[in-house]
Amino acid sequence: MRNLISITDLSVQEIEELIRTAYRIIEDPAHFAHVCDGKKLATLFFEPSTRTRLSFEAAMYELGGHVLSVAGAGSSSASKGESVADTAKVVSCYADIIAMRHPKEGAPQVAAINASIPVINAGDGGHNHPTQTLADLLTIHREKGRLQDLTIGLCGDLKFGRTVHSLIQAMSRYTGVRFVLISPEELMLPSYVKHDVLEKYHVPYEETTDLESAMPSLDVLYMTRVQRERFFNEEDYLRLKDSYILTPQKLKNAKPDMNILHPLPRVNEISVAIDDDPRACYFKQVLNGKYMRMALILKLLEVEA
Ligand code: NCD
Repeated sequence: MRNLISITDLSVQEIEELIRTAYRIIEDPAHFAHVCDGKKLATLFFEPSTRTRLSFEAAMYELGGHVLSVAGAGSSSASKGESVADTAKVVSCYADIIAMRHPKEGAPQVAAINASIPVINAGDGGHNHPTQTLADLLTIHREKGRLQDLTIGLCGDLKFGRTVHSLIQAMSRYTGVRFVLISPEELMLPSYVKHDVLEKYHVPYEETTDLESAMPSLDVLYMTRVQRERFFNEEDYLRLKDSYILTPQKLKNAKPDMNILHPLPRVNEISVAIDDDPRACYFKQVLNGKYMRMALILKLLEVEA
């Protein structure tokens, strides 16, 4: 039985396979409308979410399946002190697959060890968010036609931003990819990602605090929100929250075909004046996330379609 806890649980070939399935879904959604008839997805979200939970739910409905949902720790037995391990065993009796978001790093891994059905990590603390990465990869693939030979700028909260960590793990496996890491000193990429991924696999990268000077070299600019909920004190958050605000003015030196991505929710990192720029891809990313989650559910449930 397969789980998706880290994006590296999938090989490059398997990611290609998921992307191919997503393209088939986009072309002919009707073909997939009943392939999961009678199957149930449980969404266990112990942290706020709009997109990821609704996206998983929409994905399962569009495959013909059903959804069982626990939204918020306050409304589940976690508030009575139930362990993640026990919750996973219990939910395995009701559902065919679990998508779990949890504030504690590693919680979906614990769930996977204890569940008898596949578990998908829908975000664990400041650690990983592999299904957002699937959305990001399909978006880059649809926009650029490739995942190789790209300079990717990651900007904002690279310390706590779990989508950034998973995206780096995924993109580091493609040839010709280099990263420009743009953040305030205090929100730089954690050394475990730097050492265990970038340096280990000899992926070229540079670190800077200056978005504008990095801009001209970028093929993709991945903006992120400063992760307020992971800060130890509000003062630090307030000091850092406006470090980078992308405005039309700042895009002047960007390549005409640079793609702007953001996992959303946006606070104020991207001015709404950019939303109509053809380079803005963040709402396309949302839709792509649904297609990739559909492809992932099919793969983990071993449904041939
Ligand atoms: C991201 C997350 O939850 O990490 N949101 C999402 O799932 N699209 C990004 C964020 O919250 O900033």
